[in-house]
Amino acid sequence: MSGNGFPRDFVWGVATSAYQIEGAVNDGGRGPSIWDTFSHTPGAIDDGDTGDVACDHYHRWPEDLDLMAELGIAAYRFSVAWPRVMPDGRTVNQEGLDFYRRLVDGLLERGIRPLMTLYHWDLPQSLDVGDAGGWLSRDLPDRFVDFALVLGKELGDRVGAVTTLNEPWCSAYLGYASGEHAPGRTEDALAYRAAHHLNLAHGRAVSALRDVLPTGTDISVALNLHQVQAASERPDDVAAAHHVDLIANRVFLDPMFAGGYSDDLRATTVGLTDWSFVRPGDEAEIGVALDSLCVNFYNPSRVGADPGADGRPFPGTHRAFFADIPGPHTVMGWPIVPSGLTDLLLRVQRDVGLPVHVTENGLAAYDVVVDGAVHDQERIDYLHDHLAAVEAALRQGVDVRSYYVWTLLDNFEWAWGYQKRFGLVHVDFADQRRTLKDSARWYADVIARHAL
Ligand code: FCB
Repeated sequence: MSGNGFPRDFVWGVATSAYQIEGAVNDGGRGPSIWDTFSHTPGAIDDGDTGDVACDHYHRWPEDLDLMAELGIAAYRFSVAWPRVMPDGRTVNQEGLDFYRRLVDGLLERGIRPLMTLYHWDLPQSLDVGDAGGWLSRDLPDRFVDFALVLGKELGDRVGAVTTLNEPWCSAYLGYASGEHAPGRTEDALAYRAAHHLNLAHGRAVSALRDVLPTGTDISVALNLHQVQAASERPDDVAAAHHVDLIANRVFLDPMFAGGYSDDLRATTVGLTDWSFVRPGDEAEIGVALDSLCVNFYNPSRVGADPGADGRPFPGTHRAFFADIPGPHTVMGWPIVPSGLTDLLLRVQRDVGLPVHVTENGLAAYDVVVDGAVHDQERIDYLHDHLAAVEAALRQGVDVRSYYVWTLLDNFEWAWGYQKRFGLVHVDFADQRRTLKDSARWYADVIARHAL
C-alpha cells in the first residue's frame, strides 16, 4: 500500500452527466437534444439503445443522492441538460430550472458539494439547424452565454464550482469529424470550426459568469487531454504524435492559456482548415482567466504515421492513426496505463499551472449481480492504481485538489449504449434497481480513511 499523499482538504467525488442518467426526456417541459435525435438514428448506437429512460434519475434523484451520502461522497459533478432549462435553446423553462435547484439543495442538505458542468454534449436540437447549425454556427457562443447566465443567476449562490464545457474535443472531433457522436457529421474540416466556437463559447461564458457568480466560485473547463505517445521513435511517428498533440490538446490549451492558436497548430493543419472562422479579438476572449482546470483521463493514446491494425485515423486528420498499446485493456478496448495520468498531470502543471481537478476516471466492465453482489475487483484495481498515480503527481508538486470517479451509476454510455458499465453502483435497467458494487464499498473505505 502506498503512503498517504492526499492533502487534508483533498476532495473525493463522483461524476455523472444529464443525458446519460436522467431519462424522462419528455417530462417537465424538456425539449429534444441532438443526442435524442442521434440515439434514435438507426445504427448510431449499439443495440439501438437510447437515453429515453436511462437510470430514470430525473425521478429517482433523492434515492441516488442518498446512495452518495451513504458512501461518504464529498462532491458530486453533474451536468445540466440545456434542453430542460431552455427547451428551444433560447426560452427559459422554469420547471427545468426547478429540477436542478431541488437537486442542488438535495446535495447541500446531505453535505455534498456540487460541481456543475454546464454543457455535457446535449445541445438543444433547435440550435442544430441545417448544414451550418450546431457548433458550426457562430451564433452558438452567445446562445451558450445566455444559458450559462441563467444557471449562474439561478444557482450561483449555492454552487461553489462551475465548469463550462465537458470535453470539447469530443463535441468537435467525434461530433463533426468521426461522426461517432451527435450530430454525427463526418468532415474533418468541420471539427476545427466547431472547436473554435466551443472555445469562444467557453471564454465568453466565463467572462459573463464572473459578473454574476459570487467571488470565490471556482470556474473551470473540463478537458480530456490526450496523453499522446508516438508508436515508435521513427521521425514520422514522432511527427504524427506532435501533430495529434497540436490538434487534440493545444487547440484548446493554447487559446485558453497561452494567448492564442499557435503557429505550430496553424502549420500542422494546412490542408485541414484555414482557420478563416477565427476573427480578430476571439483569442483574447477565449483566454480569460480560470480558477482551475478539470482533467478527465482514462488512457493514453499511442499514434503513428501509418495505419495500425484497425486502420483507424485519429479524429480530425488523416496524418495520424491509432496504434495499440500492449498490455491490459478494458472492455472499451482502452489500455490501462495509470502512469499516463501522472505524466499528464505533470504536463498540465508545467503548461497551465492552475489547480487541477481530476473530474473523470474509471473503468467499464460487463458487471453482473450475483446473489445481490457485484465483485468488480478489476475496477477496484483500476481506481486504486489511478489514485496512486494522482498521489505520485501530488508528491511531485502538482496541485491536484480533487478526484471524481466516473461514474456513480451504470448508464447510457453514448454510442456504446448500456452494455458497458462504468458505475460504482449497478443499475438493472429492467426495474431500475440499484446495487452497490464492491468498488463502491472500496471507494467509501478510501474516503473514510482519506488514504489508499
Ligand atoms: C467521457 C465522457 C463521459 C463518459 C466517459 C466514459 O469521455 O465525458 O460522459 O462517457 O467518457
